[in-house]
Amino acid sequence: MPATRLTTFDDWVDLFRVWQKDIGVAYPEITNYKFEAKFGPTRSNEVEFGAYKGRPKWEKVVQIPDQRMRDALLNLIVYQGDTEFASVEQQRRLFETAPSEHDRQSLCRVVTEEMRHGWQMCHLLMNHFGYSGRVEAQKMLERRAFDQKRLLGAFNQDVNNWLDFFVYTDFVDRDGKYQLTMLSYSGFAPLAQSMIPMLKEESFHLGTGQDGIVKAGVIPLNIIQKYINKWVPVSLDLFGVDRSSSAHWFYVWGLKGRYDEPTATAEVNLERMNEHSRELYRQECVKLVEMINKNVPTGQAKLYVPDVKFNRFIGEHARKPYSVTGEMLSEERYAEHLKEMLPQPGDVALVCEIQSLEKQWISPKGSNQ
Ligand SMILES: [Fe+2]
Ligand SMILES: [Fe+2]
Repeated sequence: MPATRLTTFDDWVDLFRVWQKDIGVAYPEITNYKFEAKFGPTRSNEVEFGAYKGRPKWEKVVQIPDQRMRDALLNLIVYQGDTEFASVEQQRRLFETAPSEHDRQSLCRVVTEEMRHGWQMCHLLMNHFGYSGRVEAQKMLERRAFDQKRLLGAFNQDVNNWLDFFVYTDFVDRDGKYQLTMLSYSGFAPLAQSMIPMLKEESFHLGTGQDGIVKAGVIPLNIIQKYINKWVPVSLDLFGVDRSSSAHWFYVWGLKGRYDEPTATAEVNLERMNEHSRELYRQECVKLVEMINKNVPTGQAKLYVPDVKFNRFIGEHARKPYSVTGEMLSEERYAEHLKEMLPQPGDVALVCEIQSLEKQWISPKGSNQ
C-alpha cells in the first residue's frame, strides 16, 4: 500500500483544493461554496435485509462482525466517491461554452454538488476506516477521468459538448440515483444517513435540458439518438456484471439493497441482484424517452433506448456484436453499425459548431416552441 501524507480530514481538504485548481474548476462560485458532510435520517435503525436483518445498524466499522464485510463496505464507498469526482472532471470544460447563464448556473450547481458527494464519501473514509481509508481518500483525488484512470468505464468517457452533458445527466446521473438509493438501505448507518441529502441533490441533476434540445429542433434527431446510444450502454454497465457474487454478498451482509427494496414483493434472487436493478433502471429510461418523444414532430423517427445487449462492456453481452435492436451481426457488419449508431468525429464537430454559432439550439425552459 502506498504511503499516505494525509493524517486529518483537514489534510484531505487541502488536497481537495489542489484538485479543484488542478482540473481547472476553481471558479469563485465553486470555491466559495460551503462544502460539508450532511447526514439525514434513515428509514430504519435496524439492518433491513440479509443475514443480520433486525440487528441494530452499525455506527462504527469496528462493530461490523467480519473483515470481509468491512472490506466490501470500504469498496462500495470508494467506488461511489470515485464516480462523483470523475463526473466533475468529465464536465470541467463545459463552463467555457455554456449556452446561457441559466445553463452555466445549473452546471455550477451540478459540479459543486458532485464535489460535495465525493467530499461526503471521503469524510466517511477518513473518519471511519483508519489507514486504508486515508489511503483511498487520497487516491480518490489522484485518479483522473481524462487519463482514463477512474474505476468505472462510464466515467472515463469524454463529455465534449452540452449535448453530451444533457444526455449524461439524463442517463448517468439517473444511474447515480439508483446507486444512492440502493446504498440508502445500508446496514452501515453513516453511509445510509449520507444518502438522503445526496439523493435530494441528485434529483436536480436529472434531465436538465434534453427536452429543450428536441423541442428546438436544431440538432438532427439522429445525432441525439447517437448520443443516447453512447450513454445508455455505459450506464447499464454501471450496474455491474451478471450473476455477480459481490452483489450477492453485499446483500447478504446487509450493505446494499435492491433499488426497490422497501416495496419489493418477490423473494430476492441473490444470483441476479444486478440484473434486477438494471432492468428497473432500463424501464425508467424507456419511460423517459417516451416523454421526450412528445416533442418529436409527427412523421419523424422517434428516439429510443437501445437494446440491453448493444455495445456492452460488462456482463454476459460484453464485447458481442449486437445491434441497437438486439440482433447479432457479423463482426464486419457490426463495425459499420457502430459507426452509424455512435457519435463520429463529424457529429461531435457539428454539435460543437451548433453550440457555438446557433443561439436558439435549445428552447428555453417552459417554452412551447
Ligand atoms: Fe453525485
Ligand atoms: Fe449527479
